[in-house]
Amino acid sequence: MSQILVSMDGISKQFPGVLALDQCRFELQAGEVHALVGENGAGKSTMMKILTGVYTKDEGRIVYKGKEVEIANTKAAQSMGIGIIHQELQLMPDLTVAQNIFIGREPRAALPLFLNDKELNERTKILFRQMNLNLDPRTLVSELTVAKQQMVEIAKALSYKSGVLIMDEPTAALTNAEIDELFRMIGQLKEQGVGIVYISHRMEELKRITDRITVMRDGCYVDTVRTDAVSVDEIIAMMVGRQIYSVSKPSISAGTKQAKVLEVRGLNRGSAVKDVSFHLNKGEIVGFAGLMGAGRTEVARAIFGADRIDSGEIIVNGRKASIKAPKDAVRYGIGYLSEDRKRYGLLVDMDVKTNISIASYRSFRSSAGWMKQAGMERNAEAYVESLKIKTPSIDQRVKFLSGGNQQKVVIGKWLTRDCQILMIDEPTRGIDVGAKSEIYKLLDELVRQGKSIIMISSELPEILRMSHRIVVMCEGRITGELSSEEATQESIMKYATMRAGEIAK
Ligand SMILES: Nc1ncnc2c1ncn2[C@@H]1O[C@H](COP(=O)(O)OP(=O)(O)OP(=O)(O)O)[C@@H](O)[C@H]1O
Ligand SMILES: [Mg+2]
Repeated sequence: MSQILVSMDGISKQFPGVLALDQCRFELQAGEVHALVGENGAGKSTMMKILTGVYTKDEGRIVYKGKEVEIANTKAAQSMGIGIIHQELQLMPDLTVAQNIFIGREPRAALPLFLNDKELNERTKILFRQMNLNLDPRTLVSELTVAKQQMVEIAKALSYKSGVLIMDEPTAALTNAEIDELFRMIGQLKEQGVGIVYISHRMEELKRITDRITVMRDGCYVDTVRTDAVSVDEIIAMMVGRQIYSVSKPSISAGTKQAKVLEVRGLNRGSAVKDVSFHLNKGEIVGFAGLMGAGRTEVARAIFGADRIDSGEIIVNGRKASIKAPKDAVRYGIGYLSEDRKRYGLLVDMDVKTNISIASYRSFRSSAGWMKQAGMERNAEAYVESLKIKTPSIDQRVKFLSGGNQQKVVIGKWLTRDCQILMIDEPTRGIDVGAKSEIYKLLDELVRQGKSIIMISSELPEILRMSHRIVVMCEGRITGELSSEEATQESIMKYATMRAGEIAK
């Protein structure tokens, strides 16, 4: 019988207006990878925040290595050897990678108050070498992609030599190669007897690396099962409490109008975007596929005016557009739902209603300058309903919503704005399986209304299901274009890994 590391029982937690956990339980053994799954807002992060001292429980018992414990704060959890990689990245953007990893425990230099950066960097290098991670410890975190920041968080958690390691959606922003690397590290930790809690919405990952799965629903414990004893469909059914239809259903109406709403010619930006040309028709969804770092986000940002371009033309409705800043793009009817929603998408201290309405403030302003409260409210309520955003009310501040529900708010915000061209970057990352199909339905409805969509996604099934046409990028260039009929996972991957010299002209 394996050793039980953690056992949580009868755990309840009440937030103002929300019973986040109701008599929940969870058990972790040494050397197992234990998945915690459930829909957005089910209580997964809250349960693990209680185990790591971020929140204190209202009720219940935590037994750690055979002894009942109270975990008063995060420091207490850390010193017990319980580490967590949070869903919302928590690095300090203005510090270096090494400073972030060792924050609060830096080796002191001979002179007091001066931190010894040299030693920090050395220690970080050793850590990265163990992880096979190629990253300069002196880089500022603000200069890193979301994926790299995630790897730094992982390095940080590992540096504590934890006996329990909690990963709250660790792979949401990682490339396939990085995911393989992470899984290899998880395998190593497992052999050392570390117990790992793994929270993810990606069902295929559960089968690959977890030993057991605990399912939560609406703040309640549902069941714990051995991974090899259940199918993915069975897990989903336990999560949502009903059967949902599979994601392979094609839903897009055929026959797009032939008017070009957007044409991009010879777009260049440093080494990230190289000679990119493509067009988008009215009522069409063009999927942008490629590996992480292929330059898809950079193309969208360049079109949106978020980054300056070196050369190239952007033509909107047949006329050359001059886009120097996002506000220009918005004037041309272009919207962009960023992949980094924390940084660009949300005012976390404002409420749900304001966040949803903010991109289209003008349409809620009366001629006298008053805000039309009722209109804003009706609109916000409608999206809370259709996207199934779990919140006690539209007046809740966004920072109190679960990670997935925050994402839905950003999506509501851009859907509210009356854009003719909407660029959406990883629209369903971190979103649970049930809500995904709601988002697909909304996109479907938008193109039926004659709007046009560029959808960047790293999930091939999503690209295949939603796109009329698929543009594939690799290393800053467009390496292929496929119609929805000819596209398969294999044909997309072929182009996604095609280097400059191999492009067939
Ligand atoms: N600090 C807080 N104040 C108020 N409500 C909160 C707070 N933290 C979480 N909640 C609420 O508790 C519930 C559970 O949230 P939690 O973050 O645990 O969900 P989750 O299962 O991690 O979801 P996701 O998959 O979206 O990350 C949600 O309804 C959320 O809005
Ligand atoms: Mg969460």
